[in-house]
Amino acid sequence: MKGEPITPPVVFSATYSFKKSDDLIDVVRNGSGYIYSRWDNPTVREAEKTLAAMEGYTDAVAFSSGMAAITSTLLGLLRPGDQLVSIATYGETVRFISDFLPKMGVRIERFGPDDIDRSMDSLKEGSRLLYLESPMNPLLRVLDIKQLAEHAHKHGALVVLDSTFASPVNQHPIDLGVDIVIHSATKYLGGHHDLLGGFACMNEEHRLPVWNMRRMLGGVMDPMSAYLVWRGMKTLDIRVVRQNKTAMRVAQFLEGHSKVTRVHYPGLGSHPDHEIAVQQMHGFGGMVSFEIASDYEGTKRFMDSLDEITLATSLGGVDTLATQPVTNTHASMSAQERIEAGIPDNLVRLSVGLEDAGVIIGDLERALAKV
Ligand SMILES: Cc1ncc(COP(=O)(O)O)c(C=O)c1O
Repeated sequence: MKGEPITPPVVFSATYSFKKSDDLIDVVRNGSGYIYSRWDNPTVREAEKTLAAMEGYTDAVAFSSGMAAITSTLLGLLRPGDQLVSIATYGETVRFISDFLPKMGVRIERFGPDDIDRSMDSLKEGSRLLYLESPMNPLLRVLDIKQLAEHAHKHGALVVLDSTFASPVNQHPIDLGVDIVIHSATKYLGGHHDLLGGFACMNEEHRLPVWNMRRMLGGVMDPMSAYLVWRGMKTLDIRVVRQNKTAMRVAQFLEGHSKVTRVHYPGLGSHPDHEIAVQQMHGFGGMVSFEIASDYEGTKRFMDSLDEITLATSLGGVDTLATQPVTNTHASMSAQERIEAGIPDNLVRLSVGLEDAGVIIGDLERALAKV
Protein backbone atom coordinates (compact mmCIF):
# COMPACT_ATOMS: atom_id res chain seq x y z
CA MET A 1 0.00 0.00 0.00
CA LYS A 2 1.26 3.43 -0.89
CA GLY A 3 0.89 6.38 1.48
CA GLU A 4 2.18 6.75 5.04
CA PRO A 5 0.20 7.96 8.08
CA ILE A 6 1.25 11.44 9.17
CA THR A 7 0.46 10.74 12.83
CA PRO A 8 2.28 8.11 14.90
CA PRO A 9 0.45 4.83 15.45
CA VAL A 10 -0.79 4.21 18.99
CA VAL A 11 0.97 0.99 19.89
CA PHE A 12 -0.91 -0.73 22.71
CA SER A 13 1.28 -3.81 22.67
CA ALA A 14 2.63 -4.58 26.15
CA THR A 15 5.30 -6.90 24.78
CA TYR A 16 7.28 -7.40 21.53
CA SER A 17 8.10 -10.55 19.58
CA PHE A 18 11.43 -11.72 18.14
CA LYS A 19 12.29 -14.28 15.49
CA LYS A 20 15.66 -15.02 17.11
CA SER A 21 16.96 -15.04 20.68
CA ASP A 22 20.04 -13.09 19.61
CA ASP A 23 17.81 -10.14 18.60
CA LEU A 24 16.08 -10.19 21.99
CA ILE A 25 19.46 -10.38 23.74
CA ASP A 26 20.68 -7.39 21.71
CA VAL A 27 17.69 -5.29 22.82
CA VAL A 28 18.22 -6.27 26.46
CA ARG A 29 21.96 -5.55 26.32
CA ASN A 30 22.05 -2.51 24.07
CA GLY A 31 18.57 -0.97 24.18
CA SER A 32 18.45 -1.39 20.41
CA GLY A 33 14.65 -1.88 20.17
CA TYR A 34 11.51 -2.73 22.09
CA ILE A 35 11.05 -5.63 24.46
CA TYR A 36 8.39 -4.62 27.01
CA SER A 37 6.36 -1.41 27.26
CA ARG A 38 7.41 -0.63 30.83
CA TRP A 39 10.89 -0.24 29.31
CA ASP A 40 10.01 1.59 26.09
CA ASN A 41 7.08 1.93 23.69
CA PRO A 42 7.09 3.41 20.15
CA THR A 43 4.27 5.93 20.80
CA VAL A 44 5.84 7.01 24.08
CA ARG A 45 9.20 7.39 22.29
CA GLU A 46 7.54 9.73 19.74
CA ALA A 47 6.27 11.97 22.55
CA GLU A 48 9.65 11.85 24.31
CA LYS A 49 11.58 12.79 21.18
CA THR A 50 9.17 15.61 20.33
CA LEU A 51 9.52 17.26 23.74
CA ALA A 52 13.29 16.68 23.90
CA ALA A 53 13.67 18.50 20.56
CA MET A 54 11.50 21.37 21.80
CA GLU A 55 13.54 21.76 24.99
CA GLY A 56 16.89 21.25 23.20
CA TYR A 57 18.04 18.13 25.08
CA THR A 58 19.08 14.85 23.48
CA ASP A 59 16.28 12.86 25.13
CA ALA A 60 13.37 12.70 27.54
CA VAL A 61 11.71 10.06 29.73
CA ALA A 62 7.89 10.06 29.91
CA PHE A 63 5.93 9.20 33.05
CA SER A 64 2.36 8.48 34.13
CA SER A 65 2.08 11.90 35.82
CA GLY A 66 4.13 14.96 36.71
CA MET A 67 4.61 13.56 40.21
CA ALA A 68 5.87 10.24 38.80
CA ALA A 69 8.42 12.26 36.81
CA ILE A 70 9.54 14.24 39.87
CA THR A 71 9.75 11.32 42.30
CA SER A 72 11.42 8.89 39.88
CA THR A 73 13.94 11.51 38.74
CA LEU A 74 14.95 12.43 42.28
CA LEU A 75 15.06 8.81 43.42
CA GLY A 76 17.17 7.94 40.39
CA LEU A 77 19.72 10.67 41.09
CA LEU A 78 19.98 10.74 44.89
CA ARG A 79 21.80 8.40 47.29
CA PRO A 80 21.72 8.20 51.13
CA GLY A 81 23.96 10.94 52.53
CA ASP A 82 23.47 13.28 49.54
CA GLN A 83 22.42 16.86 50.14
CA LEU A 84 19.50 18.36 48.21
CA VAL A 85 18.76 22.09 48.21
CA SER A 86 15.30 23.02 47.03
CA ILE A 87 13.33 26.15 46.17
CA ALA A 88 9.92 24.80 45.20
CA THR A 89 6.32 25.21 46.34
CA TYR A 90 4.15 22.64 44.56
CA GLY A 91 2.48 20.82 47.50
CA GLU A 92 3.15 17.18 46.59
CA THR A 93 6.75 17.97 45.62
CA VAL A 94 7.31 19.69 48.95
CA ARG A 95 5.80 16.70 50.80
CA PHE A 96 8.01 14.25 48.89
CA ILE A 97 11.15 16.30 49.52
CA SER A 98 10.39 17.13 53.17
CA ASP A 99 8.71 13.93 54.37
CA PHE A 100 10.01 11.11 52.17
CA LEU A 101 13.58 11.86 51.06
CA PRO A 102 14.93 12.28 54.63
CA LYS A 103 13.71 8.72 55.36
CA MET A 104 16.16 7.45 52.74
CA GLY A 105 18.98 9.44 54.29
CA VAL A 106 18.98 12.48 51.98
CA ARG A 107 19.83 15.74 53.76
CA ILE A 108 17.31 18.40 52.78
CA GLU A 109 17.55 22.18 52.87
CA ARG A 110 14.43 24.03 51.70
CA PHE A 111 14.20 27.73 50.95
CA GLY A 112 11.62 30.24 49.73
CA PRO A 113 12.01 32.59 46.76
CA ASP A 114 13.15 35.41 49.10
CA ASP A 115 15.96 33.28 50.58
CA ILE A 116 18.22 33.13 47.53
CA ASP A 117 21.39 34.18 49.39
CA ARG A 118 20.85 31.58 52.10
CA SER A 119 20.09 28.88 49.53
CA MET A 120 23.31 29.70 47.67
CA ASP A 121 25.29 29.59 50.94
CA SER A 122 23.88 26.15 51.66
CA LEU A 123 25.14 24.80 48.30
CA LYS A 124 28.54 23.56 49.37
CA GLU A 125 31.19 21.34 47.92
CA GLY A 126 29.54 17.92 47.70
CA SER A 127 25.93 19.15 47.37
CA ARG A 128 24.34 16.67 45.02
CA LEU A 129 21.31 18.45 43.63
CA LEU A 130 19.56 21.81 43.39
CA TYR A 131 15.82 21.41 42.79
CA LEU A 132 13.95 24.46 41.49
CA GLU A 133 10.44 25.37 40.38
CA SER A 134 9.88 28.53 38.32
CA PRO A 135 7.43 30.17 37.96
CA MET A 136 6.19 28.93 41.33
CA ASN A 137 2.70 27.91 42.40
CA PRO A 138 0.51 29.85 43.25
CA LEU A 139 2.14 33.31 43.53
CA LEU A 140 4.07 33.07 40.24
CA ARG A 141 7.40 33.92 41.86
CA VAL A 142 10.22 33.67 39.32
CA LEU A 143 13.73 32.48 40.27
CA ASP A 144 16.96 33.67 38.67
CA ILE A 145 17.66 30.21 37.25
CA LYS A 146 20.94 31.07 35.52
CA GLN A 147 22.51 32.57 38.64
CA LEU A 148 21.40 29.64 40.81
CA ALA A 149 22.52 27.04 38.24
CA GLU A 150 25.98 28.61 37.86
CA HIS A 151 26.42 28.58 41.63
CA ALA A 152 25.22 24.96 41.91
CA HIS A 153 27.55 23.79 39.13
CA LYS A 154 30.51 25.49 40.81
CA HIS A 155 29.91 23.14 43.75
CA GLY A 156 29.34 20.08 41.58
CA ALA A 157 25.54 19.91 42.03
CA LEU A 158 23.08 18.92 39.32
CA VAL A 159 20.25 21.36 38.57
CA VAL A 160 16.71 20.04 38.15
CA LEU A 161 13.91 22.49 37.27
CA ASP A 162 10.13 22.01 37.26
CA SER A 163 9.23 24.23 34.29
CA THR A 164 5.55 23.22 34.15
CA PHE A 165 4.12 26.74 34.59
CA ALA A 166 6.31 28.18 31.82
CA SER A 167 5.93 25.36 29.28
CA PRO A 168 8.70 25.07 26.64
CA VAL A 169 7.25 28.15 24.92
CA ASN A 170 7.91 30.70 27.66
CA GLN A 171 11.24 29.45 29.02
CA HIS A 172 14.23 27.60 27.57
CA PRO A 173 15.91 26.09 30.64
CA ILE A 174 18.85 24.50 28.77
CA ASP A 175 20.11 28.03 27.98
CA LEU A 176 19.98 28.85 31.70
CA GLY A 177 22.18 25.90 32.69
CA VAL A 178 19.51 23.43 33.79
CA ASP A 179 20.58 19.75 33.60
CA ILE A 180 17.14 18.13 33.83
CA VAL A 181 13.80 19.79 33.06
CA ILE A 182 10.56 18.39 34.48
CA HIS A 183 7.09 18.98 33.06
CA SER A 184 3.69 17.89 34.25
CA ALA A 185 2.31 17.03 30.79
CA THR A 186 -1.14 17.15 32.37
CA LYS A 187 -0.94 20.94 32.05
CA TYR A 188 0.22 22.93 28.99
CA LEU A 189 1.77 20.08 26.98
CA GLY A 190 -1.45 18.04 26.86
CA GLY A 191 -3.47 21.23 27.07
CA HIS A 192 -7.00 19.79 26.94
CA HIS A 193 -7.62 18.50 30.51
CA ASP A 194 -7.84 14.93 29.20
CA LEU A 195 -4.63 13.18 30.21
CA LEU A 196 -2.21 12.73 33.09
CA GLY A 197 1.48 12.61 32.28
CA GLY A 198 4.94 13.91 33.04
CA PHE A 199 8.40 14.19 31.49
CA ALA A 200 12.00 14.57 32.51
CA CYS A 201 14.19 15.99 29.67
CA MET A 202 17.95 15.63 29.77
CA ASN A 203 21.13 14.97 27.82
CA GLU A 204 22.38 11.43 27.43
CA GLU A 205 24.69 11.42 30.47
CA HIS A 206 21.75 11.82 32.89
CA ARG A 207 19.17 9.60 31.18
CA LEU A 208 20.02 6.12 32.42
CA PRO A 209 19.41 6.53 36.18
CA VAL A 210 16.06 8.21 35.47
CA TRP A 211 15.01 5.61 32.87
CA ASN A 212 16.09 2.78 35.20
CA MET A 213 14.01 4.22 38.04
CA ARG A 214 10.94 4.47 35.76
CA ARG A 215 11.49 0.87 34.67
CA MET A 216 11.72 -0.26 38.31
CA LEU A 217 8.91 1.84 39.85
CA GLY A 218 6.74 1.39 36.77
CA GLY A 219 5.33 4.91 36.47
CA VAL A 220 5.51 4.89 32.68
CA MET A 221 3.28 6.99 30.40
CA ASP A 222 0.56 4.92 28.67
CA PRO A 223 0.47 4.88 24.83
CA MET A 224 -2.89 6.70 24.53
CA SER A 225 -1.71 9.55 26.75
CA ALA A 226 1.55 9.64 24.79
CA TYR A 227 -0.43 10.09 21.59
CA LEU A 228 -2.62 12.80 23.12
CA VAL A 229 0.35 14.70 24.49
CA TRP A 230 2.17 14.35 21.14
CA ARG A 231 -0.92 15.87 19.51
CA GLY A 232 -1.17 18.56 22.20
CA MET A 233 2.42 19.61 21.55
CA LYS A 234 1.54 20.33 17.89
CA THR A 235 -0.57 23.30 19.03
CA LEU A 236 1.43 24.22 22.14
CA ASP A 237 3.00 27.33 20.70
CA ILE A 238 -0.21 28.96 19.42
CA ARG A 239 -2.11 28.06 22.58
CA VAL A 240 0.51 29.44 24.94
CA VAL A 241 1.14 32.62 22.92
CA ARG A 242 -2.60 33.35 23.06
CA GLN A 243 -2.81 32.46 26.76
CA ASN A 244 0.10 34.85 27.46
CA LYS A 245 -1.74 37.68 25.71
CA THR A 246 -5.10 37.02 27.35
CA ALA A 247 -3.53 36.58 30.80
CA MET A 248 -1.81 39.96 30.48
CA ARG A 249 -5.14 41.63 29.64
CA VAL A 250 -6.85 39.83 32.53
CA ALA A 251 -4.04 40.83 34.95
CA GLN A 252 -4.26 44.48 33.85
CA PHE A 253 -8.05 44.45 34.24
CA LEU A 254 -7.78 42.96 37.74
CA GLU A 255 -5.07 45.42 38.78
CA GLY A 256 -7.41 48.29 37.97
CA HIS A 257 -10.44 46.83 39.80
CA SER A 258 -11.53 48.35 43.12
CA LYS A 259 -12.45 44.93 44.62
CA VAL A 260 -9.01 43.46 43.93
CA THR A 261 -6.28 44.30 46.43
CA ARG A 262 -3.34 42.57 44.76
CA VAL A 263 -2.50 40.85 41.48
CA HIS A 264 0.35 38.33 41.15
CA TYR A 265 1.46 38.19 37.51
CA PRO A 266 5.13 38.30 36.42
CA GLY A 267 4.21 40.46 33.43
CA LEU A 268 3.10 43.34 35.67
CA GLY A 269 5.64 45.93 36.84
CA SER A 270 4.22 45.48 40.37
CA HIS A 271 5.36 41.82 40.56
CA PRO A 272 8.47 41.39 42.75
CA ASP A 273 10.24 39.32 40.07
CA HIS A 274 9.16 41.31 37.00
CA GLU A 275 12.72 42.27 36.03
CA ILE A 276 14.06 38.72 36.11
CA ALA A 277 10.96 37.46 34.27
CA VAL A 278 11.62 40.02 31.49
CA GLN A 279 15.21 38.79 31.13
CA GLN A 280 14.57 35.08 31.51
CA MET A 281 11.18 34.35 29.95
CA HIS A 282 9.85 34.67 26.41
CA GLY A 283 6.30 35.18 27.68
CA PHE A 284 4.80 35.66 31.15
CA GLY A 285 2.42 32.70 31.05
CA GLY A 286 -1.27 32.00 31.41
CA MET A 287 -1.45 31.85 35.22
CA VAL A 288 -2.73 34.86 37.20
CA SER A 289 -3.35 34.94 40.96
CA PHE A 290 -5.16 37.75 42.75
CA GLU A 291 -6.51 38.76 46.14
CA ILE A 292 -10.09 39.89 46.55
CA ALA A 293 -11.02 42.74 48.91
CA SER A 294 -12.95 40.31 51.10
CA ASP A 295 -12.55 37.34 53.41
CA TYR A 296 -12.85 33.55 53.02
CA GLU A 297 -16.66 33.67 52.62
CA GLY A 298 -16.66 36.61 50.21
CA THR A 299 -14.04 34.90 48.05
CA LYS A 300 -16.10 31.69 48.07
CA ARG A 301 -19.09 33.77 46.96
CA PHE A 302 -16.97 35.14 44.10
CA MET A 303 -15.98 31.62 43.07
CA ASP A 304 -19.59 30.44 43.17
CA SER A 305 -20.70 33.39 41.01
CA LEU A 306 -18.41 32.50 38.09
CA ASP A 307 -20.31 31.39 35.03
CA GLU A 308 -17.97 31.03 32.06
CA ILE A 309 -14.90 30.26 34.17
CA THR A 310 -14.87 26.73 35.61
CA LEU A 311 -14.26 26.04 39.29
CA ALA A 312 -11.65 23.28 39.00
CA THR A 313 -8.11 22.56 40.04
CA SER A 314 -5.28 21.92 37.51
CA LEU A 315 -4.13 24.35 34.85
CA GLY A 316 -2.70 24.88 31.41
CA GLY A 317 -5.64 23.74 29.29
CA VAL A 318 -8.06 25.22 26.80
CA ASP A 319 -10.68 26.14 29.45
CA THR A 320 -10.18 28.91 31.98
CA LEU A 321 -10.11 27.36 35.46
CA ALA A 322 -10.27 29.08 38.85
CA THR A 323 -9.40 27.82 42.33
CA GLN A 324 -9.33 29.31 45.82
CA PRO A 325 -6.11 27.63 47.04
CA VAL A 326 -7.20 27.60 50.72
CA THR A 327 -10.11 25.27 49.87
CA ASN A 328 -8.08 22.66 48.01
CA THR A 329 -4.37 22.78 47.06
CA HIS A 330 -3.35 24.44 50.35
CA ALA A 331 -6.14 23.10 52.59
CA SER A 332 -3.80 20.83 54.53
CA MET A 333 -1.61 23.74 55.71
CA SER A 334 -2.37 25.47 59.03
CA ALA A 335 -3.63 29.08 58.91
CA GLN A 336 -0.22 30.22 60.23
CA GLU A 337 1.68 28.22 57.58
CA ARG A 338 -0.51 29.75 54.89
CA ILE A 339 0.16 33.27 56.15
CA GLU A 340 3.91 32.56 56.17
CA ALA A 341 3.69 31.20 52.61
CA GLY A 342 1.75 34.31 51.52
CA ILE A 343 -1.39 32.35 50.66
CA PRO A 344 -4.33 34.19 52.23
CA ASP A 345 -7.95 32.99 52.31
CA ASN A 346 -8.92 35.59 49.69
CA LEU A 347 -6.42 34.36 47.07
CA VAL A 348 -7.78 33.14 43.73
CA ARG A 349 -5.66 31.33 41.13
CA LEU A 350 -6.71 31.58 37.53
CA SER A 351 -5.48 29.40 34.67
CA VAL A 352 -6.36 31.37 31.55
CA GLY A 353 -7.67 29.27 28.65
CA LEU A 354 -8.47 29.99 25.04
CA GLU A 355 -11.79 31.80 25.43
CA ASP A 356 -12.05 35.37 24.19
CA ALA A 357 -10.44 37.78 26.68
CA GLY A 358 -13.68 39.78 26.79
CA VAL A 359 -15.65 36.73 27.91
CA ILE A 360 -13.20 35.98 30.75
CA ILE A 361 -13.04 39.61 31.89
CA GLY A 362 -16.84 39.95 31.69
CA ASP A 363 -17.27 36.90 33.92
CA LEU A 364 -14.71 38.19 36.45
CA GLU A 365 -16.45 41.59 36.50
CA ARG A 366 -19.88 40.04 37.13
CA ALA A 367 -18.57 37.77 39.90
CA LEU A 368 -16.61 40.60 41.57
CA ALA A 369 -19.85 42.61 41.74
CA LYS A 370 -21.30 39.82 43.94
CA VAL A 371 -18.52 40.01 46.55
C1 LIG B 1 4.26 22.88 39.14
C2 LIG B 1 3.69 21.50 39.17
N1 LIG B 1 4.53 20.45 39.16
C3 LIG B 1 4.07 19.19 39.20
C4 LIG B 1 2.73 18.92 39.26
C5 LIG B 1 2.27 17.50 39.35
O1 LIG B 1 1.77 17.07 38.13
P1 LIG B 1 0.72 15.86 38.00
O2 LIG B 1 -0.56 16.35 38.59
O3 LIG B 1 0.66 15.61 36.53
O4 LIG B 1 1.27 14.72 38.76
C6 LIG B 1 1.81 19.98 39.27
C7 LIG B 1 0.38 19.71 39.33
O5 LIG B 1 -0.44 20.59 39.55
C8 LIG B 1 2.31 21.30 39.22
O6 LIG B 1 1.48 22.35 39.25
